[in-house]
Amino acid sequence: MSKVIAIDGPSGSGKSSVSRRVGETLGFLHVDSGALYRIMTWQCLRQGIDTSDPVAVASFAGRVNVTFEPRGGAVEYLVGGVPPGDALRTPEINRHASPVATVKAVRDRVTGWLRGMTRFGDLIVEGRDITTAVFPESPARFYLSASAEARAERRRKEEVAKGIACQTADEVKASLLARDVIDSTRKHAPLRKADGAIEIDSTDMTIEEVVSAIIGALPDEWLKGGAS
Ligand code: DC
Repeated sequence: MSKVIAIDGPSGSGKSSVSRRVGETLGFLHVDSGALYRIMTWQCLRQGIDTSDPVAVASFAGRVNVTFEPRGGAVEYLVGGVPPGDALRTPEINRHASPVATVKAVRDRVTGWLRGMTRFGDLIVEGRDITTAVFPESPARFYLSASAEARAERRRKEEVAKGIACQTADEVKASLLARDVIDSTRKHAPLRKADGAIEIDSTDMTIEEVVSAIIGALPDEWLKGGAS
């Protein structure tokens, strides 16, 4: 049976960089669940679906088709045979993704996709409800946190590095805090620390330190034969 490392936390808590690094070290495929909610949002916007109308979003959710391929250490997503790439990282999608992610039909669809990915092998899956709802039985569940300032700063640096920065630091922080509120107060699978998950506050930690903390907390038998 596939092993699954589950990591939740708010935007900018370092989930993506850390998950990619842990995945590379252990040979586990990296799965970015947020990108699937972004794909749902992108498709709604492209088809003119009103993202503030949960009934319209719910009936559209079943029509979004994504295919999955393990590639380069991650599960890659293809829409119409093409990876969406940075089309998913616009301020417009940032703004609309949280309301779309409140819709139960959307969550159920994404949860089904994520669980199906265990067919590809061992996974490290990051998101907001992975430890609480998607893989709550995993023996390796982590909650990453960091101060709002540190998170906004990291997000902005990522956007600058990718050449897609188009907001001031204050705007990045305001958008991130607005999403936190929606993500953690929604009815279905809100972001919260799961009982039994290990919390890591990464505010003053380097990526390497967080990676070591996670690997050090994995079940011993998972580390035999491969991980350093
Ligand atoms: O991690 P991200 O910023 O790419 O996530 C995009 C949106 O999807 C964000 O509003 C939170 C939501 N999300 C979610 O509800 N559940 C997940 N497992 C992952 C992301």
